[in-house]
Amino acid sequence: MTSRRSFLKAGAAGGLLAGAGRAARSDYRYSDIEARIARRDFRDLTKEDLGTPALILDEAIFEQNLRAIAEHSKATGLKVRPHVKIHKCQEITKRQIALGAIGASCATIAECELIINAGLHNVLWTCQPAGRNKISRTVALARRDPTFMCVVDDPSIVEALDEAAGTAGAKVNLVVDVYAGLTRQGCQPGETALRLAQKVASSKNLRLAGLMGYSGMASHTKGWEARKKRSTDDLAGLMETADLCKKSGLPVGLLTGGSTGTYNIDTETGLTELQCGSYIFMDTLYRAIGGKSNPDTYSDFGPALTVMTTIISNTRPNQATIDAGNKAMLRPTDEVKGRPEIKIENPGAEYGMLHWTDTDRDLKLGERVELYPSNLDMSVNVYDRIYVGRGEAIVDVWPIMGRSGPPQR
Ligand SMILES: Cc1ncc(COP(=O)(O)O)c(C=O)c1O
Repeated sequence: MTSRRSFLKAGAAGGLLAGAGRAARSDYRYSDIEARIARRDFRDLTKEDLGTPALILDEAIFEQNLRAIAEHSKATGLKVRPHVKIHKCQEITKRQIALGAIGASCATIAECELIINAGLHNVLWTCQPAGRNKISRTVALARRDPTFMCVVDDPSIVEALDEAAGTAGAKVNLVVDVYAGLTRQGCQPGETALRLAQKVASSKNLRLAGLMGYSGMASHTKGWEARKKRSTDDLAGLMETADLCKKSGLPVGLLTGGSTGTYNIDTETGLTELQCGSYIFMDTLYRAIGGKSNPDTYSDFGPALTVMTTIISNTRPNQATIDAGNKAMLRPTDEVKGRPEIKIENPGAEYGMLHWTDTDRDLKLGERVELYPSNLDMSVNVYDRIYVGRGEAIVDVWPIMGRSGPPQR
Protein backbone atom coordinates (compact mmCIF):
# COMPACT_ATOMS: atom_id res chain seq x y z
CA MET A 1 0.00 0.00 0.00
CA THR A 2 1.30 3.48 -0.80
CA SER A 3 1.75 5.80 2.15
CA ARG A 4 0.40 9.32 1.97
CA ARG A 5 3.96 10.66 1.81
CA SER A 6 5.11 8.43 -1.04
CA PHE A 7 1.86 9.07 -2.86
CA LEU A 8 2.33 12.84 -2.64
CA LYS A 9 5.96 12.44 -3.73
CA ALA A 10 4.81 10.48 -6.78
CA GLY A 11 2.30 13.22 -7.50
CA ALA A 12 4.96 15.88 -7.24
CA ALA A 13 7.13 13.87 -9.62
CA GLY A 14 4.44 14.21 -12.23
CA GLY A 15 2.47 10.98 -11.85
CA LEU A 16 -0.70 12.56 -10.65
CA LEU A 17 -0.91 16.04 -11.90
CA ALA A 18 -1.90 19.30 -10.31
CA GLY A 19 -4.99 21.21 -11.30
CA ALA A 20 -7.52 19.17 -9.39
CA GLY A 21 -9.74 21.69 -7.69
CA ARG A 22 -8.20 24.62 -9.51
CA ALA A 23 -10.77 26.84 -11.18
CA ALA A 24 -10.70 26.91 -14.94
CA ARG A 25 -8.73 29.93 -16.20
CA SER A 26 -11.26 32.48 -17.37
CA ASP A 27 -9.07 33.36 -20.38
CA TYR A 28 -8.72 29.71 -21.47
CA ARG A 29 -10.14 28.91 -24.88
CA TYR A 30 -9.73 25.50 -26.43
CA SER A 31 -9.99 26.95 -29.95
CA ASP A 32 -7.01 29.23 -29.21
CA ILE A 33 -4.94 26.22 -28.12
CA GLU A 34 -5.77 24.40 -31.35
CA ALA A 35 -4.91 27.48 -33.43
CA ARG A 36 -1.56 27.78 -31.65
CA ILE A 37 -0.77 24.11 -32.19
CA ALA A 38 -1.63 24.54 -35.89
CA ARG A 39 0.94 27.34 -36.19
CA ARG A 40 3.39 25.48 -33.93
CA ASP A 41 3.39 28.13 -31.23
CA PHE A 42 3.91 26.12 -28.06
CA ARG A 43 4.85 29.01 -25.75
CA ASP A 44 3.40 28.52 -22.25
CA LEU A 45 1.40 25.51 -23.39
CA THR A 46 1.00 23.05 -20.52
CA LYS A 47 -0.49 19.61 -20.01
CA GLU A 48 -3.41 21.23 -18.23
CA ASP A 49 -4.42 23.02 -21.45
CA LEU A 50 -4.96 19.74 -23.30
CA GLY A 51 -8.11 17.77 -23.91
CA THR A 52 -7.99 14.25 -22.49
CA PRO A 53 -7.44 11.43 -23.10
CA ALA A 54 -4.18 12.50 -24.75
CA LEU A 55 -0.89 10.80 -25.54
CA ILE A 56 2.03 12.38 -23.72
CA LEU A 57 5.67 11.65 -24.44
CA ASP A 58 8.23 12.38 -21.75
CA GLU A 59 10.92 14.02 -23.87
CA ALA A 60 13.84 13.28 -21.53
CA ILE A 61 13.06 9.55 -21.17
CA PHE A 62 12.37 9.22 -24.90
CA GLU A 63 15.74 10.80 -25.77
CA GLN A 64 17.49 8.54 -23.28
CA ASN A 65 15.91 5.49 -24.96
CA LEU A 66 16.94 6.74 -28.41
CA ARG A 67 20.52 7.20 -27.24
CA ALA A 68 20.65 3.82 -25.48
CA ILE A 69 19.98 1.88 -28.70
CA ALA A 70 22.21 4.19 -30.77
CA GLU A 71 25.11 3.62 -28.36
CA HIS A 72 24.48 -0.14 -28.26
CA SER A 73 24.54 -0.23 -32.05
CA LYS A 74 27.78 1.73 -32.20
CA ALA A 75 29.44 -0.42 -29.55
CA THR A 76 28.38 -3.81 -30.96
CA GLY A 77 28.13 -3.22 -34.72
CA LEU A 78 24.53 -4.55 -34.74
CA LYS A 79 22.73 -2.11 -37.03
CA VAL A 80 19.23 -0.87 -36.23
CA ARG A 81 16.30 -0.44 -38.59
CA PRO A 82 13.66 0.53 -35.98
CA HIS A 83 10.04 -0.46 -36.42
CA VAL A 84 7.53 2.29 -37.29
CA LYS A 85 4.44 0.26 -36.26
CA ILE A 86 4.84 1.43 -32.66
CA HIS A 87 4.50 5.14 -33.42
CA LYS A 88 3.55 5.83 -37.10
CA CYS A 89 5.27 9.18 -36.71
CA GLN A 90 7.75 10.69 -39.17
CA GLU A 91 9.30 12.88 -36.46
CA ILE A 92 10.36 9.83 -34.48
CA THR A 93 11.92 8.00 -37.43
CA LYS A 94 13.84 11.17 -38.35
CA ARG A 95 15.31 11.29 -34.85
CA GLN A 96 16.25 7.59 -34.92
CA ILE A 97 18.02 7.99 -38.27
CA ALA A 98 19.78 11.16 -37.09
CA LEU A 99 21.31 9.05 -34.31
CA GLY A 100 22.57 6.34 -36.67
CA ALA A 101 19.65 4.02 -37.50
CA ILE A 102 20.14 2.71 -41.05
CA GLY A 103 16.47 3.15 -42.07
CA ALA A 104 13.04 2.01 -40.91
CA SER A 105 11.00 -1.20 -40.74
CA CYS A 106 7.27 -0.89 -41.42
CA ALA A 107 4.25 -3.15 -40.88
CA THR A 108 2.01 -1.69 -43.60
CA ILE A 109 2.48 -0.28 -47.08
CA ALA A 110 0.90 2.95 -45.76
CA GLU A 111 3.67 3.25 -43.17
CA CYS A 112 6.28 2.74 -45.92
CA GLU A 113 4.67 5.52 -47.97
CA LEU A 114 4.51 7.74 -44.90
CA ILE A 115 8.22 7.35 -44.17
CA ILE A 116 9.35 7.68 -47.79
CA ASN A 117 7.12 10.78 -48.13
CA ALA A 118 9.21 12.31 -45.35
CA GLY A 119 12.27 11.97 -47.60
CA LEU A 120 13.68 9.05 -45.60
CA HIS A 121 15.26 5.97 -47.20
CA ASN A 122 16.15 2.32 -46.59
CA VAL A 123 12.64 1.32 -45.64
CA LEU A 124 11.89 -2.39 -45.20
CA TRP A 125 8.27 -3.54 -45.32
CA THR A 126 8.24 -6.56 -42.99
CA CYS A 127 5.04 -7.95 -44.47
CA GLN A 128 4.56 -9.61 -47.86
CA PRO A 129 2.58 -7.66 -50.51
CA ALA A 130 -0.42 -9.76 -51.52
CA GLY A 131 -3.24 -8.60 -53.80
CA ARG A 132 -3.36 -6.09 -56.63
CA ASN A 133 -3.45 -2.94 -54.49
CA LYS A 134 -0.37 -3.81 -52.43
CA ILE A 135 1.68 -5.16 -55.32
CA SER A 136 1.03 -2.02 -57.35
CA ARG A 137 1.97 0.27 -54.43
CA THR A 138 5.11 -1.79 -53.74
CA VAL A 139 6.28 -1.42 -57.33
CA ALA A 140 5.47 2.31 -57.27
CA LEU A 141 7.57 2.77 -54.12
CA ALA A 142 10.44 0.75 -55.64
CA ARG A 143 10.41 3.04 -58.69
CA ARG A 144 10.40 6.11 -56.51
CA ASP A 145 13.01 4.95 -54.03
CA PRO A 146 15.52 2.29 -55.12
CA THR A 147 16.46 1.64 -51.47
CA PHE A 148 12.95 0.39 -50.60
CA MET A 149 12.65 -3.35 -49.78
CA CYS A 150 9.90 -5.75 -48.81
CA VAL A 151 9.70 -9.38 -47.71
CA VAL A 152 8.28 -12.44 -49.48
CA ASP A 153 7.56 -15.95 -48.27
CA ASP A 154 5.74 -17.38 -51.29
CA PRO A 155 6.86 -18.06 -54.89
CA SER A 156 3.56 -16.81 -56.37
CA ILE A 157 4.19 -13.35 -54.89
CA VAL A 158 7.71 -13.38 -56.32
CA GLU A 159 6.21 -14.04 -59.77
CA ALA A 160 3.52 -11.37 -59.37
CA LEU A 161 6.08 -8.78 -58.26
CA ASP A 162 8.46 -9.65 -61.09
CA GLU A 163 5.71 -9.23 -63.65
CA ALA A 164 4.39 -5.95 -62.18
CA ALA A 165 7.92 -4.56 -61.85
CA GLY A 166 8.64 -5.49 -65.50
CA THR A 167 5.52 -3.67 -66.69
CA ALA A 168 6.42 -0.58 -64.63
CA GLY A 169 10.10 -0.62 -65.54
CA ALA A 170 11.08 -1.00 -61.88
CA LYS A 171 13.49 -3.18 -59.93
CA VAL A 172 12.18 -4.41 -56.56
CA ASN A 173 14.49 -5.36 -53.66
CA LEU A 174 13.27 -8.44 -51.82
CA VAL A 175 14.13 -10.05 -48.52
CA VAL A 176 13.16 -13.71 -48.10
CA ASP A 177 11.05 -14.09 -44.95
CA VAL A 178 12.06 -17.28 -43.11
CA TYR A 179 9.94 -18.81 -40.32
CA ALA A 180 11.42 -18.00 -36.90
CA GLY A 181 8.88 -19.27 -34.37
CA LEU A 182 5.92 -17.08 -35.33
CA THR A 183 3.46 -19.00 -37.52
CA ARG A 184 1.91 -15.87 -39.01
CA GLN A 185 4.68 -15.47 -41.57
CA GLY A 186 7.82 -16.95 -43.09
CA CYS A 187 8.57 -19.87 -45.40
CA GLN A 188 10.18 -23.07 -44.13
CA PRO A 189 13.89 -22.63 -43.41
CA GLY A 190 16.49 -24.68 -45.31
CA GLU A 191 15.86 -25.95 -48.86
CA THR A 192 12.44 -24.22 -49.24
CA ALA A 193 13.87 -20.84 -48.28
CA LEU A 194 16.94 -21.43 -50.45
CA ARG A 195 14.75 -22.18 -53.48
CA LEU A 196 12.74 -19.00 -52.86
CA ALA A 197 15.96 -16.96 -52.58
CA GLN A 198 17.21 -18.50 -55.84
CA LYS A 199 13.92 -17.66 -57.53
CA VAL A 200 14.19 -14.02 -56.43
CA ALA A 201 17.85 -13.78 -57.47
CA SER A 202 17.11 -15.20 -60.93
CA SER A 203 14.07 -12.98 -61.60
CA LYS A 204 14.76 -10.26 -64.13
CA ASN A 205 13.09 -7.39 -62.28
CA LEU A 206 13.90 -8.36 -58.69
CA ARG A 207 17.00 -8.17 -56.53
CA LEU A 208 17.74 -10.41 -53.54
CA ALA A 209 18.68 -8.16 -50.62
CA GLY A 210 18.87 -10.72 -47.79
CA LEU A 211 16.83 -12.78 -45.33
CA MET A 212 14.48 -11.95 -42.46
CA GLY A 213 13.54 -14.06 -39.43
CA TYR A 214 11.31 -12.34 -36.90
CA SER A 215 11.55 -14.25 -33.62
CA GLY A 216 8.41 -12.66 -32.22
CA MET A 217 7.86 -15.38 -29.59
CA ALA A 218 11.24 -14.59 -28.07
CA SER A 219 10.65 -10.85 -27.64
CA HIS A 220 8.40 -11.14 -24.55
CA THR A 221 9.84 -14.35 -23.10
CA LYS A 222 10.30 -13.73 -19.37
CA GLY A 223 13.84 -13.90 -18.00
CA TRP A 224 16.91 -12.94 -20.00
CA GLU A 225 18.47 -16.42 -20.18
CA ALA A 226 15.18 -18.02 -21.28
CA ARG A 227 14.75 -15.26 -23.84
CA LYS A 228 18.25 -15.82 -25.15
CA LYS A 229 17.59 -19.53 -25.57
CA ARG A 230 14.27 -18.92 -27.32
CA SER A 231 15.74 -16.34 -29.69
CA THR A 232 18.75 -18.52 -30.53
CA ASP A 233 16.54 -21.59 -31.11
CA ASP A 234 14.02 -19.65 -33.20
CA LEU A 235 16.70 -18.11 -35.37
CA ALA A 236 18.57 -21.38 -36.01
CA GLY A 237 16.61 -22.05 -39.22
CA LEU A 238 17.40 -18.56 -40.50
CA MET A 239 21.12 -19.06 -39.87
CA GLU A 240 21.04 -22.47 -41.54
CA THR A 241 19.33 -20.89 -44.56
CA ALA A 242 21.93 -18.10 -44.65
CA ASP A 243 24.70 -20.74 -44.79
CA LEU A 244 22.94 -22.61 -47.60
CA CYS A 245 22.53 -19.38 -49.57
CA LYS A 246 26.18 -18.43 -49.14
CA LYS A 247 27.30 -21.90 -50.23
CA SER A 248 25.24 -21.58 -53.38
CA GLY A 249 26.70 -18.15 -54.11
CA LEU A 250 23.70 -16.01 -53.20
CA PRO A 251 24.33 -12.58 -51.64
CA VAL A 252 22.63 -12.55 -48.22
CA GLY A 253 24.62 -9.94 -46.30
CA LEU A 254 21.46 -8.65 -44.66
CA LEU A 255 19.95 -10.82 -41.89
CA THR A 256 17.19 -8.83 -40.25
CA GLY A 257 14.86 -9.48 -37.28
CA GLY A 258 14.84 -9.09 -33.51
CA SER A 259 13.04 -6.80 -31.10
CA THR A 260 13.35 -4.60 -28.05
CA GLY A 261 13.38 -7.75 -25.91
CA THR A 262 16.34 -9.29 -27.74
CA TYR A 263 18.45 -6.19 -28.48
CA ASN A 264 21.35 -7.39 -26.33
CA ILE A 265 20.88 -11.05 -27.36
CA ASP A 266 20.88 -10.65 -31.14
CA THR A 267 24.46 -9.41 -31.03
CA GLU A 268 25.20 -13.14 -30.69
CA THR A 269 22.42 -14.84 -32.65
CA GLY A 270 23.91 -13.85 -36.02
CA LEU A 271 21.51 -11.09 -37.11
CA THR A 272 23.16 -8.16 -38.86
CA GLU A 273 20.39 -5.74 -37.94
CA LEU A 274 17.64 -5.24 -35.39
CA GLN A 275 14.01 -4.19 -36.01
CA CYS A 276 13.32 -3.03 -32.44
CA GLY A 277 10.39 -0.65 -32.00
CA SER A 278 8.96 -0.53 -28.47
CA TYR A 279 12.20 0.62 -26.81
CA ILE A 280 11.42 4.27 -27.58
CA PHE A 281 8.24 4.29 -25.43
CA MET A 282 8.15 1.00 -23.48
CA ASP A 283 4.94 -0.51 -22.11
CA THR A 284 3.89 -2.42 -19.00
CA LEU A 285 4.14 -5.86 -20.68
CA TYR A 286 7.70 -5.25 -21.79
CA ARG A 287 8.68 -3.91 -18.38
CA ALA A 288 7.55 -7.20 -16.83
CA ILE A 289 9.87 -9.47 -18.87
CA GLY A 290 12.97 -8.70 -16.81
CA GLY A 291 16.40 -7.69 -18.06
CA LYS A 292 19.92 -9.10 -18.02
CA SER A 293 20.91 -7.14 -14.92
CA ASN A 294 17.46 -6.67 -13.38
CA PRO A 295 15.42 -9.91 -13.41
CA ASP A 296 12.24 -8.26 -12.08
CA THR A 297 11.93 -5.24 -14.34
CA TYR A 298 13.18 -4.67 -17.84
CA SER A 299 14.68 -1.30 -17.05
CA ASP A 300 17.13 -0.99 -19.96
CA PHE A 301 14.67 1.52 -21.45
CA GLY A 302 12.41 3.91 -19.55
CA PRO A 303 8.62 4.26 -19.76
CA ALA A 304 8.27 7.40 -21.89
CA LEU A 305 4.67 7.26 -23.09
CA THR A 306 1.49 7.80 -21.10
CA VAL A 307 -2.18 8.31 -21.80
CA MET A 308 -3.23 11.36 -19.82
CA THR A 309 -6.77 11.22 -18.47
CA THR A 310 -8.99 13.34 -16.19
CA ILE A 311 -10.98 12.30 -13.14
CA ILE A 312 -14.57 13.02 -14.13
CA SER A 313 -16.51 11.48 -11.23
CA ASN A 314 -15.62 10.37 -7.70
CA THR A 315 -18.83 9.86 -5.83
CA ARG A 316 -17.64 6.77 -3.92
CA PRO A 317 -14.69 6.15 -1.64
CA ASN A 318 -11.57 4.54 -3.07
CA GLN A 319 -12.68 4.73 -6.61
CA ALA A 320 -12.78 7.32 -9.38
CA THR A 321 -13.96 7.50 -12.95
CA ILE A 322 -11.61 8.62 -15.71
CA ASP A 323 -12.49 9.83 -19.21
CA ALA A 324 -10.60 7.01 -20.92
CA GLY A 325 -12.31 3.68 -21.59
CA ASN A 326 -12.17 1.09 -24.32
CA LYS A 327 -11.74 3.71 -27.04
CA ALA A 328 -8.53 4.77 -25.33
CA MET A 329 -7.33 1.15 -25.76
CA LEU A 330 -6.66 0.52 -22.12
CA ARG A 331 -6.04 -3.03 -20.97
CA PRO A 332 -6.14 -4.63 -17.53
CA THR A 333 -2.37 -4.39 -17.24
CA ASP A 334 -2.20 -0.65 -17.79
CA GLU A 335 -0.69 1.17 -14.84
CA VAL A 336 -1.22 4.53 -13.17
CA LYS A 337 2.00 6.52 -13.21
CA GLY A 338 3.09 7.08 -9.63
CA ARG A 339 0.51 4.65 -8.18
CA PRO A 340 1.13 1.15 -9.50
CA GLU A 341 -1.20 -0.37 -6.91
CA ILE A 342 -4.30 1.24 -8.45
CA LYS A 343 -6.42 -1.16 -10.47
CA ILE A 344 -7.76 0.05 -13.80
CA GLU A 345 -10.97 -1.22 -15.37
CA ASN A 346 -12.72 -0.24 -18.59
CA PRO A 347 -16.44 -0.52 -18.03
CA GLY A 348 -17.35 1.49 -21.12
CA ALA A 349 -16.24 3.03 -24.37
CA GLU A 350 -15.51 6.44 -22.84
CA TYR A 351 -15.20 5.56 -19.13
CA GLY A 352 -12.52 3.91 -17.10
CA MET A 353 -12.54 3.14 -13.39
CA LEU A 354 -9.69 3.40 -10.92
CA HIS A 355 -9.89 1.41 -7.68
CA TRP A 356 -7.53 1.60 -4.73
CA THR A 357 -7.42 0.64 -1.09
CA ASP A 358 -5.45 3.54 0.42
CA THR A 359 -8.12 5.56 2.20
CA ASP A 360 -5.63 8.33 2.84
CA ARG A 361 -6.45 10.31 -0.21
CA ASP A 362 -9.02 10.46 -2.98
CA LEU A 363 -8.40 11.57 -6.49
CA LYS A 364 -10.12 14.88 -6.98
CA LEU A 365 -12.48 15.91 -9.73
CA GLY A 366 -10.56 17.46 -12.61
CA GLU A 367 -7.29 15.92 -11.44
CA ARG A 368 -5.20 14.50 -14.24
CA VAL A 369 -3.89 10.96 -14.06
CA GLU A 370 -1.38 9.46 -16.48
CA LEU A 371 -1.50 5.79 -17.44
CA TYR A 372 1.27 3.61 -18.85
CA PRO A 373 -0.21 1.50 -21.67
CA SER A 374 0.08 -2.29 -21.87
CA ASN A 375 0.30 -2.23 -25.63
CA LEU A 376 1.91 0.56 -27.59
CA ASP A 377 0.78 -0.09 -31.16
CA MET A 378 -2.90 -0.18 -30.31
CA SER A 379 -2.81 2.69 -27.82
CA VAL A 380 -0.98 5.00 -30.21
CA ASN A 381 -3.24 4.00 -33.08
CA VAL A 382 -6.30 5.70 -31.57
CA TYR A 383 -4.69 9.13 -31.29
CA ASP A 384 -3.92 11.77 -33.92
CA ARG A 385 -0.93 13.29 -32.23
CA ILE A 386 1.74 12.89 -29.61
CA TYR A 387 2.26 15.78 -27.22
CA VAL A 388 5.91 16.09 -26.28
CA GLY A 389 6.20 17.00 -22.61
CA ARG A 390 9.07 18.58 -20.71
CA GLY A 391 7.78 18.46 -17.13
CA GLU A 392 4.43 20.24 -17.23
CA ALA A 393 5.28 22.11 -20.45
CA ILE A 394 4.26 20.88 -23.89
CA VAL A 395 7.16 21.67 -26.18
CA ASP A 396 6.12 20.00 -29.43
CA VAL A 397 3.26 18.15 -31.09
CA TRP A 398 3.92 15.33 -33.57
CA PRO A 399 1.27 13.93 -35.92
CA ILE A 400 0.55 10.20 -35.92
CA MET A 401 -0.30 9.05 -39.43
CA GLY A 402 -1.20 6.03 -41.51
CA ARG A 403 -4.06 5.06 -39.19
CA SER A 404 -7.30 5.40 -41.08
CA GLY A 405 -8.93 6.31 -44.39
CA PRO A 406 -8.51 4.59 -47.76
CA PRO A 407 -4.98 5.78 -48.58
CA GLN A 408 -3.76 4.77 -45.14
CA ARG A 409 -4.31 1.03 -45.44
C1 LIG B 1 8.21 -7.82 -38.00
C2 LIG B 1 8.51 -7.20 -36.67
N1 LIG B 1 9.78 -6.91 -36.38
C3 LIG B 1 10.12 -6.40 -35.19
C4 LIG B 1 9.18 -6.13 -34.23
C5 LIG B 1 9.71 -5.71 -32.89
O1 LIG B 1 9.09 -4.79 -32.21
P1 LIG B 1 9.31 -4.53 -30.65
O2 LIG B 1 10.70 -4.07 -30.48
O3 LIG B 1 8.32 -3.46 -30.44
O4 LIG B 1 8.99 -5.78 -29.92
C6 LIG B 1 7.83 -6.39 -34.50
C7 LIG B 1 6.80 -6.14 -33.49
O5 LIG B 1 5.70 -6.59 -33.49
C8 LIG B 1 7.49 -6.95 -35.76
O6 LIG B 1 6.22 -7.26 -36.07
